Amino acid sequence: MSLQSTERRITAVDIAKRKHGDPVVALTAYHAHTASILDEHVDFILVGDSLGMVMHGMESTVPVTLDMMIVQGLAVMRGSKRALVVVDMPFGSYEASKEEAFHSAARILKETGAGAVKLEGGEHMAETVEFLVRRGVPVMGHVGLTPQAINTMGGFRVQGKSDESQRQTEIDAKAISDAGAFAMVMEGIVEPVARQITETIRTVTIGIGASPACDGQILVLEDMLGLNEWTPKFVKEFGSIRAHIEEAVTNYAGAVRDRSFPGSDHVYARKRT
Ligand code: KIV
Repeated sequence: MSLQSTERRITAVDIAKRKHGDPVVALTAYHAHTASILDEHVDFILVGDSLGMVMHGMESTVPVTLDMMIVQGLAVMRGSKRALVVVDMPFGSYEASKEEAFHSAARILKETGAGAVKLEGGEHMAETVEFLVRRGVPVMGHVGLTPQAINTMGGFRVQGKSDESQRQTEIDAKAISDAGAFAMVMEGIVEPVARQITETIRTVTIGIGASPACDGQILVLEDMLGLNEWTPKFVKEFGSIRAHIEEAVTNYAGAVRDRSFPGSDHVYARKRT
């Protein structure tokens, strides 16, 4: 069961214990109000750097800054009290050195109160993950399709299709697991490879466009709510919020134009003397 009655916030250690247990349920949120709705239904909320594309209309996550992540991380912490909150480390905040990574992670944990950070990358980031974990920073890894590497990957490419890609994805996942990540997002990885990795590494795997065999699943909230005009293959729309918003906005605009809003219920009267 992912719905727990305890008021204590779920920790990274709790999530780490869920290997091969009940599926870990996760969604992204960037705001206090959506976080408050998600809070009792999910095990962790990811304040993903996808906020750059979803909230700000950026073409990729590359321009997202550490300050943007901290502002939205704080909002999600204010809106939630039970789920673990994980904040993404944005591109440029952790790759240059282990020390830079620690300073950025420390800012996130201190300034938001979140319980963990997430960073992208495999084998080449393992040393950094170990450095952070040894210094008290719970780290969630992110392997497979890593959106911050869009400029070197040449686009959003599913991983594990060729023998070479499969081999590298397996090496990446094992390296991040051995480095001490408590969980790992596996994004855009062909099903048999994601399954094989989940069965062989110690770390809890969280799939997005990966495999039902992963130890848990995550989706971007706005994708699964049906807010976007286009839906990727790996997303199931569990709602159709765009149509609801369009209907409400159409009705509002019509009511303002024909002067039926505001009605007598929505205006303030003078005090009777
Ligand atoms: O930024 C994000 O929303 C993510 C998810 C796709 C896992 O990293």
